[in-house]
Amino acid sequence: MARFTSLVLLGAAAVSASPLAARQATTVTVTATAEAAPTSTAWDAGAVHQYPIHASCNATQHQYIRNGLEETLTICRQARDHILRWGNSSEIYRKYFGNAPTGEPIGWFTKIVDGDKADVLFRCDDPDSNCRTQKNWAGHWRGSNASSETVVCDRSYELRRPLEGMCMFGYDVANGATNFYWASDLLHRLLHIPKVGEGIVEHYGGADEYPGVLTLAESSPEEAVRNSDTLQYFALEVYAHDIAVPGVGCPGHYREVSSAAHAAPTSSASAAASSVAASATAVASSASRAASSAAASATAAATSAAAQACTPHDDHW
Ligand SMILES: *[C@@H]1O[C@H](CO)[C@@H](O)[C@H](O)[C@H]1NC(C)=O
Ligand SMILES: *[C@@H]1O[C@H](CO)[C@@H](O)[C@H](O)[C@H]1NC(C)=O
Ligand SMILES: *[C@@H]1O[C@H](CO)[C@@H](O)[C@H](O)[C@H]1NC(C)=O
Repeated sequence: MARFTSLVLLGAAAVSASPLAARQATTVTVTATAEAAPTSTAWDAGAVHQYPIHASCNATQHQYIRNGLEETLTICRQARDHILRWGNSSEIYRKYFGNAPTGEPIGWFTKIVDGDKADVLFRCDDPDSNCRTQKNWAGHWRGSNASSETVVCDRSYELRRPLEGMCMFGYDVANGATNFYWASDLLHRLLHIPKVGEGIVEHYGGADEYPGVLTLAESSPEEAVRNSDTLQYFALEVYAHDIAVPGVGCPGHYREVSSAAHAAPTSSASAAASSVAASATAVASSASRAASSAAASATAAATSAAAQACTPHDDHW
């Protein structure tokens, strides 16, 4: 440790010609023990503050993905702050999470907003050839091929809506697809990544559409707080209500289209097709989404399986 002695303060004499000042000039000796300046503790050395985007994404693709991820952080931050402010006194909270304690959803949203962003990768080079070969896929989680990686297909840039269009284009939360907005689509993709969802945020109880999500909140709130689609619906509804159209939002009323349910696709491939078609054509979208919702509810009723392995759903994994 350095030891400083004789820190000499010569008073104002040096800068003042005043005789008074000169007479009052004093010599002060200070003995101080100076702590060695702390070297950085670097407790977060190597922290990654932005989700990595692979070099295979060109400048425009990179910018689209970066903007989308920023929007994802925006809705997650609002979702978290809404719960922090209102807890379970929020009607929106109880609608989606029932009587579950608030800590878990706060935690998932906080991880996405403030958590370390290493071990997550968005890429554009279609390494599994799904963009090329799977009709209408807009992107996919690489699953067991590379569980920290997400492939974004070029279709995403055309299909996914920006957040400033919340409650526009005929969208409402009850009837809209959770991948209608880029922000919520990427939220879903992030939740698949083990670093983010920890293999715990999954698709529970077949609740991957609006009616099933509402049912799950009542029947299994402990699953609702870790159900991927619930987290998306909640974030969308909160953002719409708190920010986009303050105090109003666009929760919508779910419209079941029962006749379409009979024709509802049962294979994931055709479900994928119908889901993307829904995104692509605004007019037909609500009907066909409702159709797959109805199918999902039926599936939900038929299966009591808790966590389902993440199989291809909608237009992607
Ligand atoms: C990036 O790739 C897309 C197609 O994959 C292409 O349309 C676009 O022009 C490319 N942008 C640049 C800046 O090269
Ligand atoms: C809300 O949370 C409190 C604890 O903070 C709990 O006592 C109460 O039962 C909860 N209400 C509902 C409806 O979940
Ligand atoms: C993983 O790779 C195999 C072989 O290339 C491919 O058939 C499969 O579709 C890939 N999985 C995903 C989720 O893309």
